[in-house]
Amino acid sequence: MNNYKNYAQNYSIIDNDELLSVENLHFSWGENKVLNGINFTIPKNELVAVLGINGAGKSTMLKCVNRILKPEKGFIKLLNKDINDLNLVELAKNISYVPQSVLTQFSMDVFDVVLLGRRPHINWRVSENDREIVSNTLKFLKLEDFAFRSFNKLSGGERQRVIIAKAVAQDSKLLLMDEPTSDLDLKNQIVVMKNIKKLIREGKDKSAIIAIHDINIAARFADRILLLHQNELIGEGTPEEVLNEENIATVYGVSCVVEKRTEYESMRIIIKDEIKQKNKRKEEEE
Ligand SMILES: Nc1ncnc2c1ncn2[C@@H]1O[C@H](COP(=O)(O)OP(=O)(O)O)[C@@H](O)[C@H]1O
Ligand SMILES: [Mg+2]
Repeated sequence: MNNYKNYAQNYSIIDNDELLSVENLHFSWGENKVLNGINFTIPKNELVAVLGINGAGKSTMLKCVNRILKPEKGFIKLLNKDINDLNLVELAKNISYVPQSVLTQFSMDVFDVVLLGRRPHINWRVSENDREIVSNTLKFLKLEDFAFRSFNKLSGGERQRVIIAKAVAQDSKLLLMDEPTSDLDLKNQIVVMKNIKKLIREGKDKSAIIAIHDINIAARFADRILLLHQNELIGEGTPEEVLNEENIATVYGVSCVVEKRTEYESMRIIIKDEIKQKNKRKEEEE
């Protein structure tokens, strides 16, 4: 039976719940190996958080999935199709991307920046439908008051929210977001994550992969966690499965207490202290 299932999936005979699959992904910057044989799948309708320290390879991995970077080796398939076989319009209809830092200057109003997200869907001219989608997205993300302000005159956090809106208006199956809450104040971090979660819940077969630093935000909102450490994926599963004391010590070098999820509150990780490298010290003393 299993064999039949493998055969059937390989030949797309049965529809499965898989949106993205990454197989044996390798990437190096020159001599610096960054991703060493990464494997994971993203089911439809899931919010997935990618965690790991600075330089772990989170941004590099997202850029490989979005075809900004070409992997050394491996396969990336979206809905069972190799992403290299998609043309640019198909790629943009299927994957939207919010980069880690928005350096682009847009000397236009917020409404028009968000409208750029509709570009893959526009044939000849912008339709009423496109404008309506932009209006609804601005409303959804509580950005209506910004619609006719100049993008270049917004604060860093406001710009970040507009770039998120542009990606949402793109209405793709897979949203890739690289630290989308890094410039946001505490309340907006929660508001944005709630909205993304809502989008995934209510959208049709949509998923998001979000690189994020705050492990408590990840624990609260993610259905699944990918934990990157020393070029490899050392954890994949629910927040409860992956965010345990041992993994957090290994990856971040800190001790912590994990409070279990209750009926009213999500799980919580309380960071205690850095872990001193005892063994090294002992060796030095001896
Ligand atoms: N353009 C680049 N050229 C050379 N090395 C890079 C470049 N971008 C990133 N790197 C290196 O790749 C590694 C992973 O970086 P990155 O994917 O940005 O990590 P993260 O997003 O997890 O902080 C780091 O060692 C970083 O120095
Ligand atoms: Mg990064």
